[in-house]
Amino acid sequence: MGDHRYAILGDIHSNWPALEAVMTDAFAQNVTQFLCVGDVVGYNAEPVRCLETIMELGCVTVMGNHDQYCSSSAPLDDFHPLAAEVVRWTRNQLNDQHLTFLRDLKFVRRVAGFTLVHSTLDMPEKWGYVFDALEADANFNYQSTALCFHGHTHVPVVFERQKTVHRMHFSRLQLQLGTRYFINVGSVGQPRDGDPRSAYAVFDPQLKTVELRRVPYDVEATQAGIRNAGLPERLARRLVFGK
Ligand SMILES: [Fe+2]
Repeated sequence: MGDHRYAILGDIHSNWPALEAVMTDAFAQNVTQFLCVGDVVGYNAEPVRCLETIMELGCVTVMGNHDQYCSSSAPLDDFHPLAAEVVRWTRNQLNDQHLTFLRDLKFVRRVAGFTLVHSTLDMPEKWGYVFDALEADANFNYQSTALCFHGHTHVPVVFERQKTVHRMHFSRLQLQLGTRYFINVGSVGQPRDGDPRSAYAVFDPQLKTVELRRVPYDVEATQAGIRNAGLPERLARRLVFGK
């Protein structure tokens, strides 16, 4: 794993002020490598700036459902109407280079002995949501590394499996040998756990710690972008509540 300290970002969702604040925090935390568990685009109004930043960072990224649908012309029957409206808008913002980057993303990536996935390792292309220990149990049957990071629900939480699976909130986790972890790093660009601050995780392989960071950002700037783009007002309002 070298000497890297990893920042694991998820569900950035075209929220540039949030991504910028998280990057500043991560550099102050001496992070040396950025990773992303998917959904760089969707919901908010700055897909290009977020995508190009992720590309410039050399950020290893897995495919999220919004990444997949924003880079295809597939029907949006499975999407909430509000989300679908932004997917259609986002498709018109992206150039060929952006589209190729998104289409080439893999569902699962192995990085230095741990795993990244957007949703869950059992059928990652089905975009199942892992909210409880039972759903996490199905994932663990497919998890061959001790540690796997994911996103998708926008709720930061850790599932740990010893004999059984436990669901826990965390702020700083000390990894134990013989335990498996499936860690949701929360959302940079649209938190849904009632805390409007951006969430991401710092993983230090030397210290064997995973720290959940919460970072305030300029919510009003993101809201202004949504309104200027003519995107649904509800998407601007929800950011204040972190819901
Ligand atoms: Fe998402």
